Amino acid sequence: MAEIGRDIARAASFLSQGELVAIPTETVYGLAANAYDEAAVVKIFEAKNRPAFDPLIVHTHSVAELSKIAREVPDVAYLLAEKFMPGPLTLILPKAEHVPLLVTSGHDSVGVRIPHHPLTLKLLQSLPFPLAAPSANPFGYVSPTTAQHVQDQLGNRLPYILDGGASHIGIESTIIRLDGHQVEVLRLGGLALEDLEDVVQISKAKIKTSSSNPAAPGMLSSHYSPRIKVLLGSISDNLQAVNPERVGIISLQGLYPNVPLDQQVQLSATGNLAEAARHLFSALRSLDGLNIDLILAEPMPEQGLGRAINDRLQRASFQG
Ligand code: TXA
Ligand code: MG
Repeated sequence: MAEIGRDIARAASFLSQGELVAIPTETVYGLAANAYDEAAVVKIFEAKNRPAFDPLIVHTHSVAELSKIAREVPDVAYLLAEKFMPGPLTLILPKAEHVPLLVTSGHDSVGVRIPHHPLTLKLLQSLPFPLAAPSANPFGYVSPTTAQHVQDQLGNRLPYILDGGASHIGIESTIIRLDGHQVEVLRLGGLALEDLEDVVQISKAKIKTSSSNPAAPGMLSSHYSPRIKVLLGSISDNLQAVNPERVGIISLQGLYPNVPLDQQVQLSATGNLAEAARHLFSALRSLDGLNIDLILAEPMPEQGLGRAINDRLQRASFQG
């Protein structure tokens, strides 16, 4: 099992030796390696069982570093960076030559993000290299939002987990590509479209939803899948057709009288979508550990982080 601790120098030492370390971020935990050390990056793909065609995000600590990872940083990118970085936003930019193609899965572009977490920012500041890090889960499974989630699934694949508490956004970063003055949303995530729209124009036709999309690998339809089947729709309708003793429930708010209480998760008793996002992946994980046949989940309002939650629920329920 991995050691779990809050020792930044220890995490830095493993990373400098080409080892993997799980890092806390405000979105989800990442499985990190020195982005410039190909032998270390290979270990990420192996540990996650991740296909080589799915590129990794490069994490750094400040806006000034962007131009070391990307060969070109347009003004719009700086505008967005000043407003949203550190934060749950990943920018796809033309990659600098020294960023290994292994990190970008052969693409000429690189995803860059500055995580908003005090421990990880300190760690990044102490290192002479940026960190390549995907979410720290086996490929296709739900992303981890606590150190224990990482331990449960990948604990035997890495020496150290930096414990920064529960991720306070709880859903992965919003990924965008710049297209002149418009932006193309490749993955809905922790930064709401409404906030992005305060700064840039979003090309609506190009918002990626859960259809399979080879241009943005990792956006596969079936992703975030728990072991137990997820059925997305009106919970009261779907309850008509099943044995209520044998189902789990993920609702925004509201409890269902015939379903055992310990099989129900209300994502936010007050209907707050940011709180709901924070609880989503833990809810999927905890229900997935129960002796039940099916998880019934309901779609959230299509606003704020509700869009990203719906995207994850659609993928979790996809039967491919
Ligand atoms: O919040 C997050 O983004 C978390 C934390 C750990 O930072 N990371 C994360 O990484 O969710 P991951 O690997 O699970 O998802 C990254 C996705 C890839 O699947 C891919 O869709 C997209 O980022 N991506 C990365 N580089 C790209 C590129 N050059 N072009 C297009 N898409 C890219
Ligand atoms: Mg992931």
